[in-house]
Amino acid sequence: MAPMAGYDEIADWYEQEFLPRSSDDAYGVDRSLRELLGPGDGTCLEVGCGTGVHAASLRTLGWTPVGVDVSAGMLRHARGRLACVRGDAERLPVRDASVDAAVAVMVHSDMPGYPDVLRETARALRPGACSSTWACTPASAVGSPTVRTRTPW
Ligand SMILES: C[S@@+](CC[C@H](N)C(=O)[O-])C[C@H]1O[C@@H](n2cnc3c(N)ncnc32)[C@H](O)[C@@H]1O
Repeated sequence: MAPMAGYDEIADWYEQEFLPRSSDDAYGVDRSLRELLGPGDGTCLEVGCGTGVHAASLRTLGWTPVGVDVSAGMLRHARGRLACVRGDAERLPVRDASVDAAVAVMVHSDMPGYPDVLRETARALRPGACSSTWACTPASAVGSPTVRTRTPW
């Protein structure tokens, strides 16, 4: 298990102050999910789902969201929002070729082993599925993603 318990300590702040569910899409994540992922009707894995705040947007697009996160504190908030499990994204607790899409929002800078996370995500995706990433770096404003990708596998 990756040592990322830091989020356990700030989970309540994250839920209540940093990224409360709101309708204004302050950081443009919903828009990115619409533009990059788009509609679908299968299972969408959210890698590093945190408090599960994007689950409703995925459902609006037709997907059934499932989440993996290493932080028990973050998952405590996520549980009412999506099916989720505690696990390390570098060793996803997901069968090969078992999900129809994957998203990762604001996680890459917390995951030093991100190449392994991408390999694991590719393993979990069915052939022909796609994944999308929304990422910012410490040097960018949080609302200005420096990386927005859509990858067909
Ligand atoms: C900035 S938060 C983003 C959470 C959510 N994606 C969002 O947009 O609100 C980063 C999340 O990545 C999780 N995380 C970091 N390393 C991880 C790992 N190796 N495996 C799974 N989750 C991890 C943290 O616990 C945290 O919930």
